[in-house]
Amino acid sequence: MIITTPAVIRRLKPIIENISDDAPVRVLFVCLGNICRSPAAEAIMLETLSEHNAAEGWKVDSAGTGNYHIGQLADPRMRAHARRRGLELTHRCRQIREHDFEDFDIIIGMDDNNVRNLRSLAPTVDDEERVMAMADFFGSHSRYDHVPDPYYEGAEGFELVLDQLADATLNLYDTVTSLRHPEEA
Ligand code: 4NP
Repeated sequence: MIITTPAVIRRLKPIIENISDDAPVRVLFVCLGNICRSPAAEAIMLETLSEHNAAEGWKVDSAGTGNYHIGQLADPRMRAHARRRGLELTHRCRQIREHDFEDFDIIIGMDDNNVRNLRSLAPTVDDEERVMAMADFFGSHSRYDHVPDPYYEGAEGFELVLDQLADATLNLYDTVTSLRHPEEA
């Protein structure tokens, strides 16, 4: 069931229409540090795709706007919370680069700061249009307007992020799939 709002679908439609039928949908998840929220988003998206036998049609990665943790695995607390849900986080932190706007179709920031920083990095106005917010895809979490940084939070912060990401990745998958294959929706 598609619960993404019409406004978000209107923004996503031209992006998806630009992807050729035989090319994968390329999604980059972005947060500040690339050690908590975005590597978890990447792993949960990959799990969602694998559950739908759809991994082949997608390319998924994550990056940070900051450069504090380059080369590191995700934060041990995020890895521990993810592992309790059967997810192994193996991503190594990297910083966003301008070339990512060529390498990815949809660039998704976790909070307003990420989105603002991404839009200012975008090489063209068209590229700016391909920056979206993870909250755009919230269904059961639509009372939230961002994925909060859990870095200075306790266990509940990490659990909330994982719940939000599971919600948003499923809606992202459903929405993109219905735009790519409207006959199957
Ligand atoms: P993230 O969390 O953006 O979800 O990876 C953070 C991780 C590290 C820092 C900030 C946020 N830091 O300032 O080092």
